[in-house]
Amino acid sequence: MKRVTLNTLRDCKARGEAFSCLTAYDATLARCADSAGIDVLLVGDSLGMVLQGHASTLPVTLEDIRYHTKCVARGKQRSLLMVDLPFMSNADTGQLLRDAGELMRAGAELIKIEGEAWMADGIRELSRRGVPVCAHLGLTPQSVHQLGGFKVQGKAADDAERIVQDARLLVEAGASVILLECVPRVVGRAVREAVDAPVIGIGAGPDVDGQILVMHDTLGLSSGYVPRFVQNFLKGQESIEAAFGAYDEAVKSRRFPAEEHCF
Ligand code: KIV
Ligand code: NA
Repeated sequence: MKRVTLNTLRDCKARGEAFSCLTAYDATLARCADSAGIDVLLVGDSLGMVLQGHASTLPVTLEDIRYHTKCVARGKQRSLLMVDLPFMSNADTGQLLRDAGELMRAGAELIKIEGEAWMADGIRELSRRGVPVCAHLGLTPQSVHQLGGFKVQGKAADDAERIVQDARLLVEAGASVILLECVPRVVGRAVREAVDAPVIGIGAGPDVDGQILVMHDTLGLSSGYVPRFVQNFLKGQESIEAAFGAYDEAVKSRRFPAEEHCF
């Protein structure tokens, strides 16, 4: 078993091979996803919604994320472990460094941060200290109230251009990976072409380097509103691990996302 590292993701991008990512919050399902071949596991602050029942990710604390990171770290073997910094961990650089440090000690191997161009300094400081960063652009759920809801971003030409510029700038500042959420397919492609770093998409179309979904969504457990980019991979499978395997296969063969999942 060869462990997934940043180099694995870079090699995938260089070879034009898609890699698979899923959120995970506990040891058992992390082990399942890892065995199914999922390349990257994310302890996402989406846990505030899918585990805790909140309407947004804002109530999630560093301690919540740290707890779930330790759980997932015990369950996974091969997958790369990416972890979200919670809302307001970016209050100042000192807080950012301390919070990221806590999550790295808990088992994180890549720290994901929401934020635009202004996060460049924080990302530079983290990457100087050996903390690899994934910069999350497009729909950034920690800004849901400012955005006026969970809405597709980058539809207007100048917004699309800003997302591409921010991705460039943050990679120059030291971001190792970009994650793009809910943007038109053309924006996904533009970002992928603009940066050397691997680009992970969710609702960003097929023309990026990797795909991610919230684990519960791949198992048909979305409650109420089901976003357009989601697919239930448990359909036709007899186990959760087989569903994760079907997702992994669909991503790597570029059958997912399909046209109907795109904006
Ligand atoms: O918290 C999360 O699950 C995420 C993914 C949806 C990318 O940030
Ligand atoms: Na998140």
